[in-house]
Amino acid sequence: MSAPVVDVRDMRVWYAGPSGPVQAVDGVTFALRQGEVLGLVGESGSGKSTLGRGLMGLVPRGAAIDGSIEFDGRDLLSLPKKERGRVRGAGMGLIFQEPMTRLDPLMKVSKHFTEVLKVHEPKLSKDEARIRALDALRSLGIPPTRYDNYPHEFSGGMRQRIMIALALVLRPKFIVADEPTTALDVLVEAQILRILADIRERYAPAILLITHNLGIVAEACDRVAVMYAGRIVEQGPVRDIFATPRHPYTRALLNSTISLSTRELHSIPGAPPDLVRPPTACRFHPRCEHVMRVCADVFPPTVRVDRQEAECWLLATDRIDAAGRAPLSRQEVPVADEA
Ligand SMILES: Nc1ncnc2c1ncn2[C@@H]1O[C@H](COP(=O)(O)OP(=O)(O)OP(=O)(O)O)[C@@H](O)[C@H]1O
Ligand code: SF4
Ligand SMILES: [Mg+2]
Repeated sequence: MSAPVVDVRDMRVWYAGPSGPVQAVDGVTFALRQGEVLGLVGESGSGKSTLGRGLMGLVPRGAAIDGSIEFDGRDLLSLPKKERGRVRGAGMGLIFQEPMTRLDPLMKVSKHFTEVLKVHEPKLSKDEARIRALDALRSLGIPPTRYDNYPHEFSGGMRQRIMIALALVLRPKFIVADEPTTALDVLVEAQILRILADIRERYAPAILLITHNLGIVAEACDRVAVMYAGRIVEQGPVRDIFATPRHPYTRALLNSTISLSTRELHSIPGAPPDLVRPPTACRFHPRCEHVMRVCADVFPPTVRVDRQEAECWLLATDRIDAAGRAPLSRQEVPVADEA
């Protein structure tokens, strides 16, 4: 099997918050190979975008990042800042949400492309650069005749697609696709699926696809990672996880969507945790219907079951004594503030 393009171990991201650091990503480990699409799902606020942006080096001022992020065999966080930026700029792309570049209203679209190519692929001739740019634009449905237009001559949706083409023109080996969630976004599910299928067919990069839409996961992803309160609580092949979810949160997430025709994620009973003072041990224990004494006391182990991995004590009851297995009543579950 080929070496992973992206190999992330124990990644953490903290934001500075008024009442203490916000542990938005809290020890995440996963790997992605060339051509693989990993869907990242979880409730709003679980840290998906923070993870995606952290991989790209886009954490805001005041935030801290730690762990290991290997890209193409190099540990990014231990590279000098300038070199890290260069590796990311040439090899990684962020699409759909908050692109790494914005269109400059005073610059023709063509100039945006030639500038990017000049920096990262200086050996390309002018003609070659033009061909590459037109090819990227065409794959996003922008006709070559519009190459020399200015940004304001395009609709919002077209501008968004131009920015995606700009992120793809260097054919990054790794793409983070953070699905748009606001009403202002113009890309719909069918367009997202078409763009992803097109990218895969052209040059099969590794893709981390962040989405609230399990229909998109089923359609476009090979594997799925389920995030809860800054941690990946379960990951594995989409088919296996949809058929036999092993973690109670994954089950709740899938159940909460089944009856809904929209296939959007809807809320699960109980509130998402406070990431400044997260619940002790298993972050899901205040909302879990299977909660046991051990769940609030000791961090659950990551257990492999067939091709899936989940962190839950239910999968390791042989490692708990009878006292630890005693169910916790609702009244006994510690609340986050007491942790
Ligand atoms: N710049 C910031 N400063 C402080 N806290 C932040 C910042 N950005 C995000 N957070 C907090 O970090 C946590 C994770 O946020 P993030 O945006 O990564 O979640 P998400 O899973 O992408 O959510 P959504 O599904 O709504 O896009 C949330 O508690 C959020 O409030
Ligand atoms: S470790 Fe315990 S509380 Fe956490 S998901 Fe598993 S059973 Fe529920
Ligand atoms: Mg997000």
